[in-house]
Amino acid sequence: MNKFSIYRFLFFVMISMALSTTTCLASGKGDHDHNHGMSAHMQAMHALKDKVPKDYQIMERTPIIPDQESLQRGADIFQGQCVVCHGQQGKGNGPAAKSLNPKPANFLDQEHSAIYGPGEKFWIIGNGSGETGMPAFSSLSLIDRWDLVNHIYQLQGTEAEMEKHEHEH
Ligand code: HEC
Repeated sequence: MNKFSIYRFLFFVMISMALSTTTCLASGKGDHDHNHGMSAHMQAMHALKDKVPKDYQIMERTPIIPDQESLQRGADIFQGQCVVCHGQQGKGNGPAAKSLNPKPANFLDQEHSAIYGPGEKFWIIGNGSGETGMPAFSSLSLIDRWDLVNHIYQLQGTEAEMEKHEHEH
């Protein structure tokens, strides 16, 4: 193992640990104690996370490889249907954002956006958030939704990590 792959390995260990902790809390074992000391906004995000079926919560990456084609399709749909709220760069500052409370997610805000993993983002795109302005895009195909998730990670600049991981297999 060279130095680089050790870091990458540690990175994935940390992600897996974080995921198993949140899955345990979400499955009710935490008795919702994790809400203490959180802002109302964070509480709302965790409440939404709790609604997502467990199979989606534990996913570590998208099943669609974020290759050029997928990223291009994701970018096109994002331009057409999402920028009005989430903004060109996904910073949550599209023209419709002003009238919304809570504001559309800023995908570049890692602290917030990382609360939802790839499977959760996928689920939220198809089902909406229920209580915020995030609509359910149930008419998009499943592949379209994964392409969008790939695009969101591309906006965050984290897709390269996912692609490298993919090529190890
Ligand atoms: C009408 C405005 C609106 C549109 C259009 C919209 N969203 Fe959202 N979106 C929101 C709001 C509001 C939230 C909730 C923000 C929060 O709770 O922090 C949100 C949250 C999300 C989240 C979860 C937060 C995160 O950081 O992972 C994802 C994923 C998402 N949107 C993806 C999309 C995609 C993809 C599209 C286009 C197909 C889209 N949204 C279109 C308003 C919108």
